[in-house]
Amino acid sequence: MTTQDDEKRRAAYAAAEVVEDGMTVGLGTGSTVAHLLDALAARSLDVRCVSTSVATEETAQRLGIRTERFDRVERFDVAIDGADQVDGDFWLVKGGGAAHTREKIVAASADRFVVIVDGSKMVESITPPIPVELLEYGFASTVRRLVDTLGGPVEPRDVPRSPDGGVIVDYLGPVGDPAQVAAALSSTAGVIEHGLFAPDLVTSVVVARGEQVEWLHRA
Ligand code: 5RP
Repeated sequence: MTTQDDEKRRAAYAAAEVVEDGMTVGLGTGSTVAHLLDALAARSLDVRCVSTSVATEETAQRLGIRTERFDRVERFDVAIDGADQVDGDFWLVKGGGAAHTREKIVAASADRFVVIVDGSKMVESITPPIPVELLEYGFASTVRRLVDTLGGPVEPRDVPRSPDGGVIVDYLGPVGDPAQVAAALSSTAGVIEHGLFAPDLVTSVVVARGEQVEWLHRA
């Protein structure tokens, strides 16, 4: 029987094939990306990588994957990352691992952003929770303004601060049109970044269902 983790591994190994010697590579965060790191390490490629989280950084180093600080890399040939939800228009929700701020910067810096998911992540429409990273300064006020603007609850998540010092909350109210929610979140003072990734960030989604791996390319 194929498990969800088998699907994550299949999607990750398929996506790893796009990485070639000499490339700069952005590495996402999460259990699907853990398989990607295994796949890249197995190929002993000569690549320059940047991690989006401490967990990815530690695993990459343990596997012998060379990583660098992001302040010395201007762009990536490819970034590969997991997602919590992917809808039919290529909207993503990310940040289940609270790493969405760094993940979005890396995705935006990549010529190609490849999303790797098991079949359960493909959804009809985006639903809460939507992860959001807030500046601690003015935190209570920012939460109040988000609740007023979005019309739904915003709850602190019981996780450590992000590596950049931000506080992680989840928007739990209705989403409806993800573009509207993304715009409202982005225009709220005190929001560092949110986990709605717009379709124009995405190049391809690699989804594994059972033993089948399918590449979905954004038109
Ligand atoms: C971390 C993320 C992850 O990519 C997302 O939560 C998917 O995780 P997993 O591969 O463990 O299912 O956005 O911030």
